[in-house]
Amino acid sequence: MSIRFDEAALAWHLTGPGLSYVVGVQDGLPRQLYWGPAIPDGAVASLAREWREAYSFDDRLHTGAELLGELGPQFATPSLQLRHPDGAKGFDWHYRDHAIEEGDAGGDRLAIVFTDRDLTLTLHYRLWDTGVLDRWASIDAGAPVEVTRFDSAAWTLPHWGDYRLSHLSGEWAGEWQLRRVPLPVGETAIGSRRGNTSHQANPWTAVDDGTATETSGHVYSTNLAWSGSWRVMLRRSPQGRVTITGGAGHEGLRWTLREGETWTTPVSSGLWTDTGFGGASRAWHEHLRRHVMPTPEEDAPVLFNSWEAVFFDVSEEKQLPLVELAARVGCEQFVIDDGWFGKRLADNAGLGDWWPNPDRFPNGLKPLIDAVHAKGMTFGIWVEPEMVNPDSDLYRAHPDWVLNQQGRDRTELRTQLVLDYGRPEVAEWAFAWLDKLLSDNDIDYVKWDHNRPFTEVGRPGAEDPDRAYFEHVEAVYALKERLRAAHPRVRIEGCAGGAARVDPGILRYVDQVWTSDNTDAGDRVNIQYGFGQAYPARAMGTWITDEPTGFNHRTTSMRFRFQVASAGVLAVGGNLTEWSEAELDEAAEHVAYYKRLRPVVQHGVQYRLGDPEREPLTGVQYVRGDQIAVLAFKTPWHCNRPLPPLRPEGIAADSRWEDEDTGETHWGATLNALGLPLRWGNADWDSAILRLRRVA
Ligand code: DGJ
Repeated sequence: MSIRFDEAALAWHLTGPGLSYVVGVQDGLPRQLYWGPAIPDGAVASLAREWREAYSFDDRLHTGAELLGELGPQFATPSLQLRHPDGAKGFDWHYRDHAIEEGDAGGDRLAIVFTDRDLTLTLHYRLWDTGVLDRWASIDAGAPVEVTRFDSAAWTLPHWGDYRLSHLSGEWAGEWQLRRVPLPVGETAIGSRRGNTSHQANPWTAVDDGTATETSGHVYSTNLAWSGSWRVMLRRSPQGRVTITGGAGHEGLRWTLREGETWTTPVSSGLWTDTGFGGASRAWHEHLRRHVMPTPEEDAPVLFNSWEAVFFDVSEEKQLPLVELAARVGCEQFVIDDGWFGKRLADNAGLGDWWPNPDRFPNGLKPLIDAVHAKGMTFGIWVEPEMVNPDSDLYRAHPDWVLNQQGRDRTELRTQLVLDYGRPEVAEWAFAWLDKLLSDNDIDYVKWDHNRPFTEVGRPGAEDPDRAYFEHVEAVYALKERLRAAHPRVRIEGCAGGAARVDPGILRYVDQVWTSDNTDAGDRVNIQYGFGQAYPARAMGTWITDEPTGFNHRTTSMRFRFQVASAGVLAVGGNLTEWSEAELDEAAEHVAYYKRLRPVVQHGVQYRLGDPEREPLTGVQYVRGDQIAVLAFKTPWHCNRPLPPLRPEGIAADSRWEDEDTGETHWGATLNALGLPLRWGNADWDSAILRLRRVA
């Protein structure tokens, strides 16, 4: 990893593992001059953007811009939009200086500083040993300026003949659907106007020229570390150049930087690989685990969660039998979900009143926690600190604490409103009760939920009400950080009605996330396939639950449900009191088996074997040291369609492998040629797990 400054060319060469990124100041503008396979330092001086050849009608100044602007012939949707008090717009770049700083873990940093009027704008770069480049920007306002857009970065792609976009979209209970579509000429926007990352779109993108595969080809991929509203705009010009600009906030927000204020964007990260979509995902996984997530090296415990077992009917009396059975099947952590506090008998009351419901927990949480500990499990608890039900003591005392606008209805969704965390007293209140809950009780795990998007965002009387969008996210990050510092033992699960808040921003503060409220194992094969494009298995919460679920009324075997859930951080979420003795015994076997798989699944390198949208037989292969685990799934299939065997990835032909369950040995060459010896029957919704250890 290094960053070298070529003074004559006024360019900076960032080099990482096999890659180069060159940014220079040309024609007064900061431009990306190169991004791709490594080039020698000597080549930097010869890099020039093609703006010199453009016509008067062209938006030539946009080419390669590190932030798309609005001065001169720049006609793309800008990355940065400013309005000065005298009516002038934009930022006229004047290079001032730069600073290079050596960071830990190869995270060298570069800051390039520009000025215009009373503003100082700094472009920040941090190249990691994972090949991921973090970029963000900051403005120091020496005088007030109105901002309507301030993206973290614009990324310019190579000049290819064609472009294809991969992105993730979906809905509640149907997140993580991978879309792979031609990128049209024009502007394609993905984003969220909801105040959270959203179920509907995720800020992860991957762009190739239409020829990349799972295992080969050039892929450029970006993501945004922000858990509020966001927008990523992909622009393909008629001449065939592609720029991706992305950042926090949605269209139409505006706020004014005060004199003396510094505004810093969140991080936009980008990576290039020539190892296809699989390689891009593995690079993201490695990066998030090594440089973003707080505890990736820990084995996440197998937990029991009460939600689908009893929904809101959470009481000491009803939980005690579940504690017994959760321990019996091998769970290591017992988590009570929604329903334990205030008057929370359903979703219409209680949010905000964070004390145990006296009818349900007459002696507080201690007896239940003691029972959980007596069974050798740790204890976890559900909270939703950013929300309030109007039917709560909190709301009756502080109706002004919610996001709202003067004279407008306060739209209730799931009968709840969003607390305004931008108010310091609200964030302080949240810390106080969470701190007390964790100090008074022996709690190891917090499931932090967030069950609605924002509406009528504002703060009556506030000068700059749109800031509430940004302040909320920053305050949530700060609160989680503060809680982690005060309670270093406690682990946090990020949840938002499933996965409405999964992004590299929140992953800095949570140990794992809830992947989807849809726990149907058949649907989960696809959901997990999409999740894995951007995020690692160590972060992916996966439950086995009772079937049929309300989503599609499908019934599958316990084995299939367990094996699908074993592809991430396994949890048990069914009503164990209704399971037969035989089912409990079978569950205990699956949980014990998962514990043997866990190190490879949670900490291994992931290869996707096939695409479940298109193929009936797919799998996920995890590799760690000399161990391989393959989890394979068979979705409905018709007898006259071909069902080719599943072949592993990355196995040397002359290697030998022992099946850890049967003791059989296999040559790498035969596994590659003939496929994996998976043991399963002929049923639809079938599954198999193979554990191999390299013996030669
Ligand atoms: C939504 C979550 O995704 C569920 O797992 C559960 O915790 C409910 N909220 C509780 O209200």
